[in-house]
Amino acid sequence: MTEIILALDVMKKDKAVSIVQKAAPYIDKVKIGYPLVLAEGLGIAEILSEYKKPLIADFKVADIPNTTRLIAEEVFSRGFSAIICHGFVGHDSVRACVETAHENMGECYVVTEMSHPGAVDFFHGGVAERIAELVCEAGADGIIAPATRPERTAVLRSLIGNKKILSPGVGAQGGDPDAIAGIVDGIIVGRAIYESSDPAAAARQYSCFRTGI
Ligand code: XMP
Repeated sequence: MTEIILALDVMKKDKAVSIVQKAAPYIDKVKIGYPLVLAEGLGIAEILSEYKKPLIADFKVADIPNTTRLIAEEVFSRGFSAIICHGFVGHDSVRACVETAHENMGECYVVTEMSHPGAVDFFHGGVAERIAELVCEAGADGIIAPATRPERTAVLRSLIGNKKILSPGVGAQGGDPDAIAGIVDGIIVGRAIYESSDPAAAARQYSCFRTGI
């Protein structure tokens, strides 16, 4: 079974609530990042908690350990169940994020390789693989790996064993869910759902990956 994670990159609270309400039967989790939090504040997490979908904080934290810990503590105090941090910052910063997540009964996912075309400028050439090793050493719960490059995500899968993989890039960025679903634990979908005139129908299209049927 592959979870469907809604990337809720809308700028208005009312729209965010409306989309989650409509898509709720067909999604497993909601990922919130800078667009919505900068527009509406971290309190949006409490508002969305009504829909009982675990919330993932996509802040791609990339800072020194102390600042990372402060950010993660704030995230978990607001009701998020997971946080995303960058891996290129190194072992101590990743450990700080993992430890803070686990102290708060939450999860930490580490970006290994991003989904957009420019990601190859720096993440290829062994960097993503080194980050995957760091994820294992640091005891993180999983990685973020690209649906736009299933062959790369398969390589990263071979390095992290049964840790979880959440994969953005399906839909608007061109990633094919059929090609990635069997490799990952969750597919992250944003615009293909929230820009649809019928977000429920758009989310329902991914239901086959949740059930595996
Ligand atoms: P779309 O609209 O393209 O939204 O379906 C994708 C969502 O995922 C985020 N994103 C990433 N997050 N590593 C990440 O941690 C990535 O490689 C990556 N690529 C996309 C994006 O910000 C949006 O919320």
